[in-house]
Amino acid sequence: MWQRRQPWRSREEKESRSTGIAVFDFETPDAISLEQRPSEGNESRRTFVLESFEVGGKTATSEQPMYFGVDYYPEHWVYPYAGSPSKPEERWEKDIGMMIAAGVNVVRMGEFAWGLYEREEGNYDFEWMRRAMDLFGRAGIKVVLGTPTAAPPIWLAKKHPEILPIDERGLRKHQGTRRAYCLNSDVYWEYSQKILRALATALGKHPQLIAWQIDNGLGGHSTEASFNPETERDWHAWLQAKYETIGKLNDLMGLRFWGQVVSTFEEVPMPKIAPTLHNPALLVDWMRFCSDTVIAYARMQVNILREFTPDIPTTQNLRALTRNFDHFDMAEVIDFVSLDSNAAVRARSAELAHEIDIMRSLKKTNIRTPDGEQGFWVIEQKAGHVHWQEVNSLVRPGVIRLFTYQLISRGATGVLFFLWRQPRMGSEQFYGGVLTHDGRGENRAYLEIKQIGHELKQLAPALKGTRVEPQACILFSHENDWDQKFNLQPNRFFNLREHIQFFYNALHDRNIAIDFARPTEDLSKYKLVFAPSIHLLAGGEADLLKLYVQNGGTLVATCNTGLVDEHHIAPDSGFPHDLVDLFGMEVLEFDPLPPGEENSLTHKGQFTATHLHPARLWCDVIEPKGCQVLCTFAKDFYAGRPAVTLNEYGQGRAIYVGTISTQPFYHDLVVWLRQLVGLFPLLKVPDTVEVSMRQGDGRKIYFLLNHQHTPVRISFYKPMHDVLTGKEITGNLDLPPHGVLVLDEQS
Ligand code: GAL
Repeated sequence: MWQRRQPWRSREEKESRSTGIAVFDFETPDAISLEQRPSEGNESRRTFVLESFEVGGKTATSEQPMYFGVDYYPEHWVYPYAGSPSKPEERWEKDIGMMIAAGVNVVRMGEFAWGLYEREEGNYDFEWMRRAMDLFGRAGIKVVLGTPTAAPPIWLAKKHPEILPIDERGLRKHQGTRRAYCLNSDVYWEYSQKILRALATALGKHPQLIAWQIDNGLGGHSTEASFNPETERDWHAWLQAKYETIGKLNDLMGLRFWGQVVSTFEEVPMPKIAPTLHNPALLVDWMRFCSDTVIAYARMQVNILREFTPDIPTTQNLRALTRNFDHFDMAEVIDFVSLDSNAAVRARSAELAHEIDIMRSLKKTNIRTPDGEQGFWVIEQKAGHVHWQEVNSLVRPGVIRLFTYQLISRGATGVLFFLWRQPRMGSEQFYGGVLTHDGRGENRAYLEIKQIGHELKQLAPALKGTRVEPQACILFSHENDWDQKFNLQPNRFFNLREHIQFFYNALHDRNIAIDFARPTEDLSKYKLVFAPSIHLLAGGEADLLKLYVQNGGTLVATCNTGLVDEHHIAPDSGFPHDLVDLFGMEVLEFDPLPPGEENSLTHKGQFTATHLHPARLWCDVIEPKGCQVLCTFAKDFYAGRPAVTLNEYGQGRAIYVGTISTQPFYHDLVVWLRQLVGLFPLLKVPDTVEVSMRQGDGRKIYFLLNHQHTPVRISFYKPMHDVLTGKEITGNLDLPPHGVLVLDEQS
């Protein structure tokens, strides 16, 4: 079978070379419980804790619903920002009491604490974090610890300025913020390993610890790539591992173009700023290399943590594909996926749903979460407004709850809010928190999140063991995405993400559940697979698509597919490369249209049109070779030529859409496809209501979300059970603005 990528041998060697660097001579006491710890005022503290941790007569531990929590920075809430000189940490207890009251049973902490754990080199102090963890232990609240490598301490860059990243212009980025390091730096690897070992030794056996978060936002702030001398060294080693001989590299990278052939691996340039554009084959390899660099750094951390704490799962807080590394590769390294959700103000629900579905899809097997649930976590759910928009408006009442249910409805099995309280200092000081600066807990967000916390306790038994099980899938590959972001494209107005979103919206708006997958995954469980614009399609990927259709699948591909292979070489056997027989047609030429210019589609039966659908941005000039023609172009020199085709292939069908239209076309397409393959909407509800379903052990849990600012009337023709109220619903129900219903079928 064709392999995705060669393993990076040099980096693996680097990993094995660098194990066992740190030696520690300090003792690591077992976790000290609050009762054992000698400290003044302990008695009164204990009384406070016991009183305020009681919720409805039960402690957090005894209920243990799904994991629900907050991102907490105990280091922000000590004297002089809170507490008093004699009791600098006393605010922690109040916070914990308020968390318990909101149903919190897990906190994430410590991801930026390196400079506080190790104020001077080798002088470690984990005791303050241990005290915080002990307090959480008293309250039955579990802890996810971040490894603190996202924020190197100031002394480290002072001592080793070579760890600071160099950009593509050759300029060094300076220290003073998080992420100021080059991922290829040996020194940074060594220091990372030291702090990890020290942390795992000190706190790895703490009974509250249930997961590790690796670093924080790896690759964030455009730090996936650096251009340091060590990066160059690793780049050359990576190329050598991939190509083995210089002849192969010159040929497969096409370096004879502009005579840029090299004689040694060391001559291959990094794509720094140059007079014009670098060879796209080199650029794709560079992106692969940078991605492998990020993944290797994460893997190094995971391996170290597994040595110390094999039973504690690892995760990474990812953003929905906004960072330039292969998120599917990352998901293979960690035990479970976590998401920083961007459910910010005024976002379109289908765009958020798209992001959630793609994150859920990153890891479909070998999932190891702290409670064994087969889902993903949202480790940073917005608790309110953000601070990075031009105008950071408040999130309207009910919206946090709505978006939290959206995450859960699409498979999240743990949700933590970012962040517990708006910090009094620092660059995120006006980011919306669960608590506002005053910390009183009378604010809207706290009350809303408290409501969610209580509802989730109610919901937990119904949700246990349930998953989202889509029958439709959209293909996505990072390599293809990177490739389409390079400067030279047939049409720079074409945007892959927007193209995918058209298909996604059409499925989403018909309440059809969707997975995402790389083209190399086993697609056989899906009735319907969409492959929007896989411009860079590897030969092996093309074979797998054929296999899927051959065995009865229905594949929908589009223009801008198979223009180059994995080496960025264009085919000499017609477009889409290696798939002409699958689609029973060949694309002879493609005609990119500027914005504002349009062709239109003439339908030939099979699927009916509700609109006169335009053809925009891209029109393929298609030569049919045995396919049926479903639509033709209406004008220009290719008037009457196919625009949409269908080809029976093996047991299945391959459909090709040789243009880009507007949203109504994709809705019509999906309505037709749904009939064709027998996919049914989850529930019949008004269009404005989003429906998702989780299932397991014969149970089906439906989520109905009203994203509108007005109520929506829903008619129930058979009785349904409202899981949140425990009541039966029949007849008409008005779902309020931003309202949520969780239902199971009354048996
Ligand atoms: C996250 C990051 C947090 C915070 C947040 C702000 O990606 O992990 O530390 O900075 O973004 O949006």
